[in-house]
Amino acid sequence: MQAVAVTPGKPNSVHLADLPKPRLDDIPGGRGVLVRVLKIGVDATDREINEAKYGASPPGFDFLVIGHESFGVVEAVGPNVTQFKPGDYVAATVRRPGGSIYDHIGTYDMTSDEVYFERGINLLHGFLTEYFVDDVDYIVHVPGGLKHLHVLAEPMSCASKAVQQAYEVQRRLHVWRPKLAFVMGAGQIGILCSLALRLRGFEVYTLARSEPPSLKAELVNALGAHYTSTRQTSARDLVKKVGKPDLIIDATGSSAVAFDSMQLLGHNGVLVWTSVTGGRQHVEVPSDKVNLDWVLGNKLLLGSVSANHEHFEMGIRDLALAEVTYPGVIQRILTTPIDGLDNYANMMSALTSDEPPLKVFVDVAKG
Ligand code: BGC
Ligand code: ZN
Repeated sequence: MQAVAVTPGKPNSVHLADLPKPRLDDIPGGRGVLVRVLKIGVDATDREINEAKYGASPPGFDFLVIGHESFGVVEAVGPNVTQFKPGDYVAATVRRPGGSIYDHIGTYDMTSDEVYFERGINLLHGFLTEYFVDDVDYIVHVPGGLKHLHVLAEPMSCASKAVQQAYEVQRRLHVWRPKLAFVMGAGQIGILCSLALRLRGFEVYTLARSEPPSLKAELVNALGAHYTSTRQTSARDLVKKVGKPDLIIDATGSSAVAFDSMQLLGHNGVLVWTSVTGGRQHVEVPSDKVNLDWVLGNKLLLGSVSANHEHFEMGIRDLALAEVTYPGVIQRILTTPIDGLDNYANMMSALTSDEPPLKVFVDVAKG
């Protein structure tokens, strides 16, 4: 079967690879779920892997099948799988457990191992292919009624986790009644974080460079958040206008913005960093000032990566709630379908264009 792969370490190596179709018996204990891939989303992570900024092949391979945002239909299940049946729509989680205690309790997204395993990213093949098989523990139901949102299950899980993590750590305060949030960035994660925060009652300002009108601005505003172009209003001016936020989520992919956000946060607030930056950018920060302000304000910085099964379920619930609260908005994120795996070159050029479309995904098969 066909798969879209890269040669890690070699820039612009995206190519078609050929792999045998996986079998249910590849998974021990009769716990396998064989999935026929329907659609796979791609994002800046796939672009950066193709730029050789990170990513590693599975042992014994000199290529890595990319694609970590999955959507497919169950084709067959092992004898010990009762949770799924052929015909069910599903997505799969991305990380797989290592050896730490966190991995053993199902929170493999929080591994304390230095090495991490992520399908389509690090040491495990991804989903940009015709079929995949996995242990039932890593498969998530996508209700038929959310089929039109397909590949958003994975990015939504990351957004829902980021927000949930903020609530978890803020238990340190005994009472946390946040009102105001800034989301830095209006890419897919920025919009989905804005959504998760609106669903939890926040007043949300979503900051991005480009000036409206744009699809991003429309979608943000349709969620009842306020799109703010930093070309028109700087983050500092926004603080002067609306006050310092209780929560900031950075989803820009720019470490400069991630660090700059430290100067915007209110007392007792939490800043969540969600994007990985594979580059080598150095920025200067007013470190004395930030240090003083953060200690005197009991502020907290939190990194949040990937998502486990529970966060996927949370993400699915958020998507379902979004459909009744802001009907029809979220599907407009899905801007740019690519027809078939063999169009991988177009897929990559869409991701690398100067103004990348909001969401590129590959239509692998009909279903
Ligand atoms: C993926 C996450 C992953 C992260 C870091 C993101 O693009 O959505 O699942 O953990 O990259 O590799
Ligand atoms: Zn991703």
